[in-house]
Amino acid sequence: MSEFESNTNIIPPAPVPDSVLPIQISDIFADYYHWTNYQVEPENYAKVWEVSAWVRDFRSQSEHAFISLTDGSTSQILQVFCEKANMPNFDSLDNLRGATVKVRGLVKKSPAKGQDIEMVCETIEPIGLVSDKNSIILAKTVQLETLRGHQHLRSRFRTFGYIYKIRSQLLKHIHEFFHSKGFYNLDPNIITTSDCEGAGEVFTITTHNVNKIAEQVESNCYERFVEKDETSITIGSLTTSDLYKDDFFQKQAFLTVSSQLQLEALCAGLSRVYTLNPSFRAEKSKTKRHLGCFTHLEWEIAFIDINQLMDFSEALVKNVIGKTLKSCEFEYAELNKFISKGIIDKLSNVVNEKFERISYDKAIELVEEHKKAILKKFSKEITIKDIPKWGDDVGSYCERYIAEEIYHKPVFIYNYPKELKSFYMKQNDDGKSVQAVDLLMPTLGELIGSSIREDSYEKLVQRMDEKSMDKSVLQWYVDLRACSTFPHGGAGLGFDRLVNFCSLMDGNIRDVVPFPVSYQECDY
Ligand code: 4AD
Ligand code: MG
Repeated sequence: MSEFESNTNIIPPAPVPDSVLPIQISDIFADYYHWTNYQVEPENYAKVWEVSAWVRDFRSQSEHAFISLTDGSTSQILQVFCEKANMPNFDSLDNLRGATVKVRGLVKKSPAKGQDIEMVCETIEPIGLVSDKNSIILAKTVQLETLRGHQHLRSRFRTFGYIYKIRSQLLKHIHEFFHSKGFYNLDPNIITTSDCEGAGEVFTITTHNVNKIAEQVESNCYERFVEKDETSITIGSLTTSDLYKDDFFQKQAFLTVSSQLQLEALCAGLSRVYTLNPSFRAEKSKTKRHLGCFTHLEWEIAFIDINQLMDFSEALVKNVIGKTLKSCEFEYAELNKFISKGIIDKLSNVVNEKFERISYDKAIELVEEHKKAILKKFSKEITIKDIPKWGDDVGSYCERYIAEEIYHKPVFIYNYPKELKSFYMKQNDDGKSVQAVDLLMPTLGELIGSSIREDSYEKLVQRMDEKSMDKSVLQWYVDLRACSTFPHGGAGLGFDRLVNFCSLMDGNIRDVVPFPVSYQECDY
């Protein structure tokens, strides 16, 4: 018998719970599946386990009760069967709704459908009770929107268990993907002196006492920096260096809007780098897609052209979604039943379809051609004024229409007018467009913003001058073009948007981010 054949008969070793950390519900399921898959009939499995967890649900009849236990280690629920005859405290079990408990009992195959195993309770001890009987924790069904007002309790709800698992698995697959392609994972500092995108949507950081500045403003010291009718100072609107010369860095510093520029410097020597840094945008947007702080997956690749840039983005999105569909099979089956009906088809379509690639010029033509239908579909959101002409931003509704209704799949739009995009993008020979690529997803809109970077020193400097940019803070960036310049490109993917796309059908970004922060919203 060959070595391979003999190996096929080897039973894998039984899973061993972590020797340091407490037992979890997932350990119990793993043990049951191992033994019943390889060594005993399910009917013969019987082991005593003790575990601490939270009561998700409680159903009681006169002689027995069922407790659904959860601890986040698996999306599966551990059903605990309590018999009045065996439990002196049976009548007080009702108090355990929503509670933290420690239970001990014999785990065996469940006699009923709906779950594989069940624990027959020997003892159950309360660890923490729910003191407010009106607590949202005890509600049977709650809208995602309602739970936005109770974010500290969201992790206790089934749907958030699914969403957070998907979020966490997407992250894992992203790291695996980049490492498999030879990337360095490096996180540039999030405190910076440059506004990468040049949109002015930056949060300034300061150690100055804001009250003191307010006093100075009142005593007219800084009168010229604030509008007369403003009652409070928006530090972000102060642009002069005067205010910061005695500040922590002796100059104005921001929270980064993008780590791209620093990644470019790392790329100039390492070739392939990526980060999952947060980015901060002081955008006064209250949409379903905008946050003030978001997890920004950014990558930078040396010696790449615009087609390879699109190939890479497509491969990344397909790979991480495909793997997450598999690693979260249980969660997707549950979400697909009710909360996110159609999610499996939606994501499978992304994995299986070749993404469309169209130029900006073509996108504008399509919008013109379909404008009646676009206005009909988004009649509440946009008017004829929002239909773009050449040179205008395509706009999120028209972008969605192109991906959703025209192609029914993700669409790359490339070669945008240079006036629409940031200074660092590579200029095309036509003198009017740059090698920028956005990836648009059905129902979501823009997921990725990317470009080939301008690698000519002269063209970069000229563009910065045309945009009247202060070159002094970006001297190091310009220097990269004077010091063995190289063709390169990269991208930024809004990770929270990806999670939203991968867990809900037409969801709100606030429902997939633990403790979201956005315009007029910072409650934790
Ligand atoms: O298109 P953006 O602004 O591109 C950049 O920042 C580039 N410097 C990235 C790079 O090339 N390294 O942002 C990239 C992506 C967008 O496509 C969007 O998915 C997401 O970041 N994004 C936001 N996500 C949530 N809330 C916001 N306010 C966002 N702004 C951008
Ligand atoms: Mg963008």
